[in-house]
Amino acid sequence: MDDVRKQRHKLAVGQQSSDPSDKEKRRLVLSQETEEDQVMSLSLRPSQLKEFVGQKDLVENLKVALQAARQRKESIEHMLFSGPPGLGKTTLAYIVSHEMNTRITVTSGPAIERAGDLIGILTNLEKGDILFIDEIHRLSKTVEEFLYPAMENFQIDFVVDKGPYARTIKFNLKPFTLIGATTRSGLLASPLRDRFGIFYHLDFYEPEELSLIVKNSAKKLNLAIDENAAEEIAQRSRGTPRIANRLLRRVRDYVQVKTSQAKITKEVAVKALETLGIDTAGLDDADRRLLKIMHEYYKGGPVGVETLAATLNEEVDTIVDVIEPFLLKTGFLKRTARGRQLADIALKHLGMNGASSPKDKSQKELF
Ligand SMILES: Nc1ncnc2c1ncn2[C@@H]1O[C@H](COP(=O)(O)OP(=O)(O)O)[C@@H](O)[C@H]1O
Ligand SMILES: [Mg+2]
Repeated sequence: MDDVRKQRHKLAVGQQSSDPSDKEKRRLVLSQETEEDQVMSLSLRPSQLKEFVGQKDLVENLKVALQAARQRKESIEHMLFSGPPGLGKTTLAYIVSHEMNTRITVTSGPAIERAGDLIGILTNLEKGDILFIDEIHRLSKTVEEFLYPAMENFQIDFVVDKGPYARTIKFNLKPFTLIGATTRSGLLASPLRDRFGIFYHLDFYEPEELSLIVKNSAKKLNLAIDENAAEEIAQRSRGTPRIANRLLRRVRDYVQVKTSQAKITKEVAVKALETLGIDTAGLDDADRRLLKIMHEYYKGGPVGVETLAATLNEEVDTIVDVIEPFLLKTGFLKRTARGRQLADIALKHLGMNGASSPKDKSQKELF
């Protein structure tokens, strides 16, 4: 059996890969936040809009909205940030609070279990405060419905007593700004979506922008780095600032342990990234495995995302939210009505035989 087959066999019988270095590498290019990211982001996260790199249109619109609200001495409208993990949604929420000079209360959809939890949070808000709800698409239905009048006219309805004595009491809240963040705006119920005044979608970053982020972060970490080393890290960061910062930290470790040089050069950055199994497109072993499995077992697809998830022993949500967006953006994968399909450029990138079999061709003609 070759490696991929062995892997698949292991996965098929329900065993996770037992190689710990495997998992460690996996985490490197996943855009989900790790504990280390959380600690590091305290020092690397820009706190002012002028330090926020890229997303030009978004930043321009946000500037206008902030200034208008400041001039009217009003709180800014409720806003929703959507986009893949690691692109700056949380950072922007903090920046808005900093720019508006207001307090921010941070919570997340899954953390608010009951309406009671939300009442506590809402009644503690002062005038102009920001309430940031991360992963807002994961709010429960009851909590979400409770939020509607709070967002709309800063009121909440308590129900007291039960049965025939049940009464609704209205409670006035101080005007606040809700900022929601979501990796999947498509999952948001429309009544909730409609209550946001401002929508911003974050897109993957260009290599030049990521390179600037790497250089800025290096400065904050007191690291010397060559221009082309920053470009190399940027190139392999999947369009994602969180990953760029993480790769920078791993390269720093490598330079410290394996070399005697004080500066990060391109040569050593490439070596470090290769040691970590991250290729020139930012793919790691697990991504390459996904692409190879699609090629070898599903003849390039289309294959349903559930089947893929089962084969790879991953959650469907992880594939859809975290792994797949970048593969779709680079064009390695395509989304079709019948599932995911491997593109020829993915095979080329992997150095595999790119020619589709005649069977694949006839399948493609179906679309
Ligand atoms: N536009 C940006 N400019 C500079 N750094 C950024 C930018 N966007 C994100 N980052 C960095 O990437 C990290 C992840 O961003 P975060 O806001 O936590 O992403 P999200 O909430 O969308 O998952 C932050 O800690 C920050 O250091
Ligand atoms: Mg976040």
